[in-house]
Amino acid sequence: MPSSLPVPGFPTRRLRRLRRTPALRRLVAQTRLTTDDLVAPLFVADGLDAPRPVGSLPGVSQHTISSLVEEVRRLAGLGLPGVILFPLPRPEDKDATGSAALDPDGITRRAIEAVKNAVGDDLVVMADCCLDEFTDHGHCGILDPRTGDVDNDATIERYADLAVVQAAAGADIIAPSGMMDGQVGAIRAALDSAGNPTTAVLAYAAKYASALYGPFREAADVTIVGGGDRKGYQQDPRNRREALAEVALDVAEGADMVMVKPALTYLDVVAEVRAMVDVPVAAYHVSGEYAMVKAAAERGWIDGPAVALEQITAVKRAGADIVLTYFAGELAEVLGA
Ligand code: PBG
Repeated sequence: MPSSLPVPGFPTRRLRRLRRTPALRRLVAQTRLTTDDLVAPLFVADGLDAPRPVGSLPGVSQHTISSLVEEVRRLAGLGLPGVILFPLPRPEDKDATGSAALDPDGITRRAIEAVKNAVGDDLVVMADCCLDEFTDHGHCGILDPRTGDVDNDATIERYADLAVVQAAAGADIIAPSGMMDGQVGAIRAALDSAGNPTTAVLAYAAKYASALYGPFREAADVTIVGGGDRKGYQQDPRNRREALAEVALDVAEGADMVMVKPALTYLDVVAEVRAMVDVPVAAYHVSGEYAMVKAAAERGWIDGPAVALEQITAVKRAGADIVLTYFAGELAEVLGA
């Protein structure tokens, strides 16, 4: 009989004893959430005169380059180790192939360079590597004219080119989020042959076709043409073993870290992935997860900051080493540097 379980007929108060004071609870805590675990997602839009708040994500804005730099400096000052950038084009610059993403003078390069110039190596800069923000049809890649579906192989070539642009601008980590087969291998090969062997890859490895990305699509100004969805390339929420297959492939292709997304609805997947691989595991607490907490808190139905802390701690407890969350700044203020 394990000694920590009550022995029948011999009631023990061992578990309660260790919960008596805050200091005791601190001493025996099995999960420690720190500012070092957190990464803040940030949006930066081309052609804005002033930051534009995102209605469905209270506290989150589309930034101008200068407000982005200011925000990144503030977050670095709070001790956050990293940010993930989502550059957005002017609406009129969207096209079928998302070419504005690759424009050497475009928002991708200018935003990453500005952030890197401001904070150097004090902060890890991740670049989301995808095309949906830049395509006029809103899908994550190039469409096959015959089928109307995303053309996997043509798309991963574009991701590879985009990754090289992001790395040249100074991104420390490239984070492909399009769920195309072979995207990690294609990006790794392109980075290496462009002379960026030290640029790391964080694979959105197990990314589910989730309804929780709703507010992100407002933040990133993405509408999928014809009311379509991403079920043809993102994972089916009913599948767990498939996530392990996705992760194994990405690690074999050279991913330095892997991600599960969303976070709370997939804690079982986070735990299994953590048990399976040795690379760092990230989880993305996504826009819908954040918005639900904010909305309920605004109505006075829950204690928002307490729920945020509980949720992000749970993601870490499940096994995530890194949590991407719109709460990163707020939590850093509570947790300290
Ligand atoms: C794709 C991308 C998405 C998110 C991150 N990268 C949206 C999608 O797949 O539709 C969602 C993040 C969130 O909801 O917070 N570029």
